[in-house]
Amino acid sequence: MLPETRLLLRHPFFLQGDVYTLGVPGSELAPLGVKRGWSPDAHERAVAPFALDGELAPNARAEIALVYLPKGNARRDHVLDLASTIAERLVLVGCNDAGIKTARKAVAARATGPVQSEHGNHAQLVATSLSVVEPKLRERRFEVPIAEGAALTLVSLPGVFSEGRLDDATRTLLDVIEWPARGRVLDLGCGAGPIGLSAKRRVPALDVTLVDVDDYAVEATRRGAKVNALDVEVRSSDGYSAVKGERFDVIVTNPPFHRGVGTEYEVTRAFVNEAPAHLRPDGALWLVANAFLPWEEPLRARFATVDVVAQDRRFVVYRATRPRT
Ligand SMILES: C[S@@+](CC[C@H](N)C(=O)[O-])C[C@H]1O[C@@H](n2cnc3c(N)ncnc32)[C@H](O)[C@@H]1O
Repeated sequence: MLPETRLLLRHPFFLQGDVYTLGVPGSELAPLGVKRGWSPDAHERAVAPFALDGELAPNARAEIALVYLPKGNARRDHVLDLASTIAERLVLVGCNDAGIKTARKAVAARATGPVQSEHGNHAQLVATSLSVVEPKLRERRFEVPIAEGAALTLVSLPGVFSEGRLDDATRTLLDVIEWPARGRVLDLGCGAGPIGLSAKRRVPALDVTLVDVDDYAVEATRRGAKVNALDVEVRSSDGYSAVKGERFDVIVTNPPFHRGVGTEYEVTRAFVNEAPAHLRPDGALWLVANAFLPWEEPLRARFATVDVVAQDRRFVVYRATRPRT
């Protein structure tokens, strides 16, 4: 159980009433005993004990909006705006090392009543009422050169990976990847879409599908596709969940990575382990990762051929072919 949940359970008074949750991890919903909520994360929706709302504009009313502090100030402000349209009363919880003290100040600045707080387990609870602010998704556009003279305009939204610039690992991958002349490409964990969108721009005959677990990333990629007039398919997906039974000629990924957080390793491991089931026999998985990460072994367990296509002090680009099925 997360420290935020333990803190809430010690102060049940704050959740007395009709509660709507925003961004509460699926595993924490049962202990809290709540029955409605929203998550922009397809994985959290899949593990939740009841159906959570998705997309970026939940249409709900409640007495209390319970928010688990998301990462990053821009996303935090968007979620607080959403909460303000759902309920008059806000209960926000977060950990001390995740910015709850700064968040408390942001909440106090727009509170319409007294701000109460409780502390414990390195977490803090902030309760107040908020003035209603219509949620606006602030987008940021940025140019990414993809070949001599050619560029893509990408759209970034709050909390989407690499916020407003091309990630160095992604650049390393894009410099060496070889796209087939035709066939199906899956961009797995697409973020703002730099990989799949540049594939479509460079080889218009490709049939490109981009997926991400995060609805903000899905929306950013859809906007990027529209701005560049690229006809691609963008889906919300926990790993391969939205492409069940489908096979591709290329799967390409710059997988999620946070040093020291075990769960992200599990996500990437599943990306690799389940790739053969989604590749055509002569298909390839392209993966870029930090050079010190242990991906060669799981790749070799699943593919008969694993080539290191590029390597420098920071990153390795692997191409894995001849999937073992
Ligand atoms: C390192 S970022 C790469 C983003 C983008 N491809 C790029 O190169 O800029 C990894 C992406 O994987 C997504 N992700 C994390 N877990 C996932 C999962 N279980 N299924 C699908 N996508 C996931 C994250 O939301 C994030 O956008």
